[in-house]
Amino acid sequence: MKNLYLIGNWKQHGSQAAIEAFADQWSSEQHPRLRIAIAPPFPYLQALGEALANCDLAAQDCSVHVQGAHTGEVSADMLVDLGCQYVLVGHSERRQYHGETDELIAQKVAAAQAAGVTPVLCVGEQQAAREAEKQDDVVRAQLRSALATSQPNLLIAYEPVWAIGTGLTATPDQANQMHAMIRQEVESLLGAAQATPILYGGSVNAENADALFACPHVDGALVGGASLEAASFMAIAQSASNNLSH
Ligand code: 13P
Repeated sequence: MKNLYLIGNWKQHGSQAAIEAFADQWSSEQHPRLRIAIAPPFPYLQALGEALANCDLAAQDCSVHVQGAHTGEVSADMLVDLGCQYVLVGHSERRQYHGETDELIAQKVAAAQAAGVTPVLCVGEQQAAREAEKQDDVVRAQLRSALATSQPNLLIAYEPVWAIGTGLTATPDQANQMHAMIRQEVESLLGAAQATPILYGGSVNAENADALFACPHVDGALVGGASLEAASFMAIAQSASNNLSH
């Protein structure tokens, strides 16, 4: 029986007041096979962890270094100290706007695993690659590089860049096909296809979540915009719960 994972990525949004408003509407009743986490900006991890019951904590990034003279960096051990279960690694916004390479991302995956926080490796193609039908090649190359030194303990999020924040979503068929390819690749790289949850991300909302969760290879969602309000995030959680109850 599969579990579903729902992770909210708040990106650079949030405030103390927003956390309080979110917590006021939060319902801690979840399906036992639904794992929910939220990734707020670093300064809010502790406050969010204290405010929400039955919600795991995720960070949005971590350093490849354990400690040292690296101003502005946050180590995976520090995330463990704060109670984080997950850390996003290789989000397309880090790749695109912060120059993160596949090599750096592989080091971050390894750093997170060494510290005991589960990496959520993000992969996905740009629009031009999808138009040229090169999406499988792009994602396969990202996986091969990022997982070169990885242990089997991770989650993967497929986030087609053209679907992030655009209101465009991969169709359930497109998501399912890509997830099947990712699963095959994870099997050949780590021998851990069944143990590795593969989440879909890119304009997931309460309207499209049902059809995505119904796909056999979709094990959950990584949600940006629709995770900022408790009501819309909980509506997606409800759709995940309904799927698990069928
Ligand atoms: P949106 O859900 O806002 O498209 O963001 C997706 C995302 O990047 C989550 O990491």
